[in-house]
Amino acid sequence: MPHFFNSRAFSYGKLKALLRLGGRAGEEAGSSPARSVQTFAEGLHAARRTSQKRAKKISALKSEVSELKAARTKDKRLVHYLVSDAFDMRGPWVTGVRIDGKTYGRATRHSSPRLREFFEAFPEASRGRILEPGSLEGAMTLELARRARAVVGLEGRPQNVERAEFLKSLFGADNVAFYVTNLEEDGLSSYGKFDAVFCCGLLYHLANPRAFVERAAAVAPNLYLDTQYARPDWELVERDGLRGWVRTEDPQDPQSGLSGTAFWPTLDELYRLLSESGYGTIVTLARLPDNRHGPRVHIAASYLSGQGFSAP
Ligand SMILES: C[S@@+](CC[C@H](N)C(=O)[O-])C[C@H]1O[C@@H](n2cnc3c(N)ncnc32)[C@H](O)[C@@H]1O
Repeated sequence: MPHFFNSRAFSYGKLKALLRLGGRAGEEAGSSPARSVQTFAEGLHAARRTSQKRAKKISALKSEVSELKAARTKDKRLVHYLVSDAFDMRGPWVTGVRIDGKTYGRATRHSSPRLREFFEAFPEASRGRILEPGSLEGAMTLELARRARAVVGLEGRPQNVERAEFLKSLFGADNVAFYVTNLEEDGLSSYGKFDAVFCCGLLYHLANPRAFVERAAAVAPNLYLDTQYARPDWELVERDGLRGWVRTEDPQDPQSGLSGTAFWPTLDELYRLLSESGYGTIVTLARLPDNRHGPRVHIAASYLSGQGFSAP
């Protein structure tokens, strides 16, 4: 019986009210001892019934909630299996993509300052139109698309573009378009004008970087470049008026260039190429001379004249 007085199950005030309800109109509860006992018993009975009803309701709700939780966990597991399968079917992947705390595609994913550097260098690219040549499987393209109005990804390998299209539909990125093209030859003008070009990991795969930089300069006033360069003490040759090193490309590598060789200008020659292509401001954002694949640099170049050249 004391459990009636558990304030969570039933309040003392309510019990008193119930007891009063037991009395006749005009008659005070407890006016005769016999009536009081009966009223009290009826009150207790009613209180017990109400409390049992509430307990039943609460337990029904509790089991409903735990059923829903179990269903959600099951759904999540199912979605994970489906997404895993969809990635496996399209593999092998170069890129790792993180969704809901899980990584799909390639197991590991490198963090990189490139997106941050790009948007800091060219704030106008946020909400703007961006061109990403060498877009691989579209992972960076989708990151760019989270901030930009529109992004165009250009890629030479159709299977990479298929994976990129899959990611695009998975994330519902309607502001992204991918095209298969050879960037050694593509004039770039057919995609319209852009606020900025985000060019990572591509230039050092091209046999003719001069032609590409000049075409990029013609479609956007801003160029973010992440590329490798030749050291002056390497065996250098001259190509298209630039001093640089010729590298043999590995056709088995899904990230390699489409020509048999690539040409890496020295860093000074790269700056000269940018300046000759019309970029009045060239800012070196990062220099990575000891990169394991070869000395590397991150550069922001823009049409802005008079700002000159800066190296960190
Ligand atoms: C090293 S990956 C860089 C991918 C990505 N931009 C990044 O930095 O993580 C180079 C990409 O450029 C593509 N590529 C290389 N040469 C190309 C060419 N001539 N035309 C089009 N795409 C090319 C490769 O297929 C590959 O996807």
